[in-house]
Amino acid sequence: MIVIKTMEEIMKMKQAGEILAACHKEIAKMIKPGISTMEIDKFAEKFMLDHGATPEQKGYHGYPFATCASVNDVICHGFPSKEMILKDGDIVTVDMVVNLNGWLADSAWSYGVGQVAPQTQKLLDVTKESMYKGIEKAVIGNRIGDISNAIQVYAEAEGFSVVRDFIGHGIGSEMHEEPQVPHYGPAGRGTRLKEGMVLTIEPMLNIGKYHAKVDPDGWTARTVDGSLSAQYEHTLAITADGPFLITKQT
Ligand code: MF3
Ligand code: CO
Repeated sequence: MIVIKTMEEIMKMKQAGEILAACHKEIAKMIKPGISTMEIDKFAEKFMLDHGATPEQKGYHGYPFATCASVNDVICHGFPSKEMILKDGDIVTVDMVVNLNGWLADSAWSYGVGQVAPQTQKLLDVTKESMYKGIEKAVIGNRIGDISNAIQVYAEAEGFSVVRDFIGHGIGSEMHEEPQVPHYGPAGRGTRLKEGMVLTIEPMLNIGKYHAKVDPDGWTARTVDGSLSAQYEHTLAITADGPFLITKQT
């Protein structure tokens, strides 16, 4: 069942999204060679608490941290660690979910550390743009497959692969609601988009093959071929005025 949100509920999610977006802006300034992903996690957790919000990922199905911090070949769900010290040329995806008064917002952002190689920068740029290609299709009357297909067509034309094993989702007072939002697949298929649906669009693109494997910790998902992976994620509402970005960074 897809839970349709009222404009009031969407505005509550937007308040959570503003805290999340502000937190990402601070993290962007912190990311430098020498910082650990645990420092970023601790900062994000405190930032949320200081703003009257809570980190929804912490304790979610036993996940132990406020953020996921996925470095280089890690696709998603990487554990923050004080041993994981970022170095020049790395990329790190910071993913977090803010809970403000029971309403959620979810956004992941990839960051280059120091000076990154041209191909790495292209991966970041194309992954971000692929998210926006999907968001453009998030309009009343389109179908989920229109979002999926726009992302896949663009990403593959630019020479990257789209991860299959992790997908976007509905969100509201629960982190994962219906519908599922794959970032690949045919246009014209799937659930028709209606006003008041709130979704995440969160493509993960790899330089090499799309295949993923999970570490023995049960969470950390990596590219099977060791290639770099990036991800950008926004939470957005389907409205009469088009897609409304709940996690927009200003
Ligand atoms: N933010 C993630 C998503 O897009 C959820 C991470 S899983 C968690 O669905 F366990 F860390 F919460
Ligand atoms: Co998400």
